[in-house]
Amino acid sequence: MNKPLRPVPKPGVMEIEAYVPGKSAAPEGVKLHKLSSNENPLGPSPAAIEAVKKLAGKMESYPDGSARRLRQAIGAAHGLNPANIICSNGSDEIIGLLAQTYLEPGDEGIITEHGFLCYRIYIQAASGVPVTVKETGERADVDAILAAVTERTRIVFLANPNNPTGTYMPHDEVRRLHAALPKNVLLVVDAAYAEYVRRNDYESGIELVSSSENVVMTRTFSKIHGLGGIRVGWVYAPTHIVEALNRMRGPFNVNAAAIEAGIAAMGDRAHVEKGIAHNDQWLPWVTDELTKLGLRVTPSVCNFVLVHFPGSNKHSAAAADAYLTSLGYVLRRVSGYGFPNALRMTIGTEEANRGVVAALTEFLKS
Ligand SMILES: Cc1ncc(COP(=O)(O)O)c(C=O)c1O
Repeated sequence: MNKPLRPVPKPGVMEIEAYVPGKSAAPEGVKLHKLSSNENPLGPSPAAIEAVKKLAGKMESYPDGSARRLRQAIGAAHGLNPANIICSNGSDEIIGLLAQTYLEPGDEGIITEHGFLCYRIYIQAASGVPVTVKETGERADVDAILAAVTERTRIVFLANPNNPTGTYMPHDEVRRLHAALPKNVLLVVDAAYAEYVRRNDYESGIELVSSSENVVMTRTFSKIHGLGGIRVGWVYAPTHIVEALNRMRGPFNVNAAAIEAGIAAMGDRAHVEKGIAHNDQWLPWVTDELTKLGLRVTPSVCNFVLVHFPGSNKHSAAAADAYLTSLGYVLRRVSGYGFPNALRMTIGTEEANRGVVAALTEFLKS
């Protein structure tokens, strides 16, 4: 065989559909309300801002590669052993590391129909095969997941609750899923939005991790803690998984500013409560108002809603997106998630929430 004349990516790389982040620009002269990335409208804790400012004068020093103080802060806040926590450059880094660590070429990773898109990307990046299973009523379906398990299955990714649907799997269902999975299959419970969930039958996955050898729970500082820009996440995992991931991660994968911001954010429970209270007030309001306009809204337990538009061109999601963007309300197109005619809207400030409802009222009249 002729040698290629330039470096060639390994098989499968060019088939990956690169992740498209939410838009973040409004037309010139129009005030931007960014509602496309599920960021916290209240911003980060003032303590986190202070911590990053303080760190700015010490940027010449490498961070602590094990993020020990941050792991301790997370452990204290959640009642977990810091030795079973690994911090990361956003939780998506952990998702990628898990795929790299546990998938051999051709191994299968199960994802759900409307699941978070990063899973597919990272499975493919690890030369694995993403196996997509149907959801039922925009919810992950335990039986469908179990029916897709084969000899080659090594990972199941479950966002609980899920983005972009905002739906969740009750804890007894997660347990049923876990109980029926082969022991060599890793169940990744991605609880990026756990803090927002106000349901008695929901658990983030901590107990399941503590009591088994094949479950991990990922978490992020990007949502309730308002630190998406600084990139910090973490995973709670059994010791043997921690030992494997620590070999695969970069030696300084969490930067010094992220460590300091994370520690401060973990210590500011009042700020977290504020974010939860804001969501508790505005999530039902936005859901009700949009429903009153005749739009179907998938019931959400998160800090965003999935809004479905009528099929016609005039009132399509694309037309609504263009109209809202022209007014500065930037929502998220979700065609890549299997929802060509829906938009995902982050619960924003009061001004943004009221603005979107008023704008859609006008839009639907036209
Ligand atoms: C379900 C889910 N998991 C993980 C992430 C990644 O968050 P980060 O990498 O910012 O921690 C997101 C971000 O949108 C998400 O929606």
